[in-house]
Amino acid sequence: MQNLPNTTHKLESVDIDKDYVVDDLEKVTNLFDFQALARHKMDSGAFAYVSSGAGDETTFNRNHSAYDDILLNPRVLNEANALNTTITLFGDELAYPILVDPFAFQRAIHPDGELATVRGAGKAKTACVISSFTTTSLEDIQQIATTPIWFQLYLQDDIDFAKKVIKQAEANGCKAICITLDGNAAAIRNKEDKVGFKLPKDVSTPYKIGRPAPMSWQGIEDLIAYTTLPVLIKGVVSGEDAERAIAIGAAGIIVSNHGGRKLDTAPPTIVALPRVVKQVNKRIPVLIDGGIRRGTDVLKALALGADAVLLGKPIAQALGSAGAEGVTKALEILQHEFEMAMILTGQDTVASVDSSVIFEK
Ligand SMILES: Cc1cc2nc3c(=O)[nH]c(=O)nc-3n(C[C@H](O)[C@H](O)[C@H](O)COP(=O)(O)O)c2cc1C
Repeated sequence: MQNLPNTTHKLESVDIDKDYVVDDLEKVTNLFDFQALARHKMDSGAFAYVSSGAGDETTFNRNHSAYDDILLNPRVLNEANALNTTITLFGDELAYPILVDPFAFQRAIHPDGELATVRGAGKAKTACVISSFTTTSLEDIQQIATTPIWFQLYLQDDIDFAKKVIKQAEANGCKAICITLDGNAAAIRNKEDKVGFKLPKDVSTPYKIGRPAPMSWQGIEDLIAYTTLPVLIKGVVSGEDAERAIAIGAAGIIVSNHGGRKLDTAPPTIVALPRVVKQVNKRIPVLIDGGIRRGTDVLKALALGADAVLLGKPIAQALGSAGAEGVTKALEILQHEFEMAMILTGQDTVASVDSSVIFEK
């Protein structure tokens, strides 16, 4: 046996990938790689817009790292039946409990914008939430959509405009409306400010007339009563707000802190999730986003009571770096990782996933 070097330093992680340059979609092996690819392929302004968080990026970073503090409980040699990852949400069957989050200004991120996201997600059998600040009309999106489309609404100053937009979402086959409540103050995003991000002149936003504006619970209740579609409230992290959302007729809740892009030092969503789940007590579906990058993260969110998860930044980076093909690849990687996590914890259906999947210390 040859003499081994006298290593007293950390042995766990070997930086085999130190010289691995992700400059092509082929080289992407996981969702983090899309950040490297996006840095390589996107213009600096759009990359900074997509990739930065608020303040010191504490919440932005902890959203993901909080998942590392949760341990999974491996189970071996289970008599597992064939794996079934499907779920049903608001009457639609989804192939996986994973959706694409709304993110704004997609034609500034890639020339094909929302059409590329929806095509790419459709190929990966994934539903998409389209941002209020979409750069493509719902008519055009609906023509190419093969999976359910939900519409995300920012409340702007004019309530009649919001109603008009809701009618358009209904007329164009959207399956749900998702009202984002954590976006009504401008974000402090220093990195984006330093590099500068501007919407290109030829990119328009058909459902944007101003900045997101504050609104009363009563105003939201009126909109919920106005539409025939189920309405989810996005941006809730406390049990109290979840209760209010239910009281005004919300059909679902998305536990979200806007991916750490709004209020820095807000709790990571996976830390906030159990309180919301407890308060909601299965009355309506609870979804979660923020920092989900691995299949094991998806499994942990479900184990802690989420019905499904959504992803923003990694999909935006996949779009920006490789268009529809990138979006498909990002989602398929996550789906595959999720399947492996289910198998290795002895789960065969999403409904079977519960807190026993988490290793209790
Ligand atoms: C570039 C970008 C733009 C976003 N624009 C919107 C938006 O228009 N409406 C909205 O409700 N959320 C928006 N979000 C927040 C996402 O919907 C989602 O809450 C967040 O990205 C989830 O965290 P993650 O990026 O860690 O997956 C945006 C996120 C990003 C990265």
